[in-house]
Amino acid sequence: MQVVSVINYKGGVGKTTLTANLGAELARRGQHVLLIDLDPQSSLTFCFYHPDEWRAELRGGQTIKRWFDSIKDGIPSVTLGEQVVYPRPVNAALPDGSGRLGLIASHLGLIDVDFELARRIGGIEQKFDPALFRMRGALADALHDESFAEFDWIFIDCPPSFNVVTQSAIIASDHIVIPAKADYLSTLGIEYLYGNVQELVERHNEHSLKHAKMRHSRIEPNIAGVVFTMIQFRNGSPISALQNYINQVRGLGIPVFSTYMRENNTLFAGSVPRGVPAVLRERVTSQINIELRTLASEFLNTIHAEGAAA
Ligand SMILES: Nc1ncnc2c1ncn2[C@@H]1O[C@H](COP(=O)(O)OP(=O)(O)O)[C@@H](O)[C@H]1O
Ligand SMILES: [Mg+2]
Repeated sequence: MQVVSVINYKGGVGKTTLTANLGAELARRGQHVLLIDLDPQSSLTFCFYHPDEWRAELRGGQTIKRWFDSIKDGIPSVTLGEQVVYPRPVNAALPDGSGRLGLIASHLGLIDVDFELARRIGGIEQKFDPALFRMRGALADALHDESFAEFDWIFIDCPPSFNVVTQSAIIASDHIVIPAKADYLSTLGIEYLYGNVQELVERHNEHSLKHAKMRHSRIEPNIAGVVFTMIQFRNGSPISALQNYINQVRGLGIPVFSTYMRENNTLFAGSVPRGVPAVLRERVTSQINIELRTLASEFLNTIHAEGAAA
């Protein structure tokens, strides 16, 4: 099982679109995939459920909020495994004999969980804070449960911030993917995010060793790379203004995927939930599908290369 977090501070950069399509494509290739929606805006959840359906079937039942609520008091009454659901339309759209796509849905009320945690924990800690350490490690611990062993891939769609919920995803991750637009602010944001991830990991490792005496729990999430999204092409390459920003990020020594997600306003801009991501919906020969599949293959190669090097 490999855990992959999809992260960027910025909203609207294509995190959710990438998570849904990459997950669906790997399921099509026969993998058991779990998507976890950690964003209170719940866009990933609404890629697979109509809001009415979510209200009727999930709101009071299986969501990530239910689990966070249960653990923040220290006495878990539900397990994370119990929150997994299998959205019908996408699973029905997978060809026979292929994998499965599970989801842990989000909830608008997750924003309260985050405020509550922030209040309790009280800002950036200077020294070891046992409550913060426990909350940051909770998702990693929960995903080690045998109920998740059936999954080949777990993708975590993070909220556009570096809050405790996002931090818990980073701590739980083997790999991190950073979707980004190619513009000035995004370039700055990527460098900043990269630095914060490194700092969080170092601090967590230091604390596990020193305070929790967890000698074998060193974490080392690998930055798989930046995926540039909403790219406009001319003559087969990103337009030059965008290419400059892409080169700038490469120049920082941050890995960048060579496959880009093309801007496609017809396919992605509609806000109507349709239940099935573009990669399973569009013709196999369509340009967007070819690109999404190339991106999935590049992703798998990157992860396997990292595995071989480790
Ligand atoms: N390649 C693309 N081309 C055009 N629009 C896109 C593309 N990818 C995503 N979008 C649209 O941009 C908006 C933000 O995308 P989303 O994946 O929700 O970003 P995030 O999760 O980072 O907030 C959505 O309306 C989505 O449909
Ligand atoms: Mg999103």
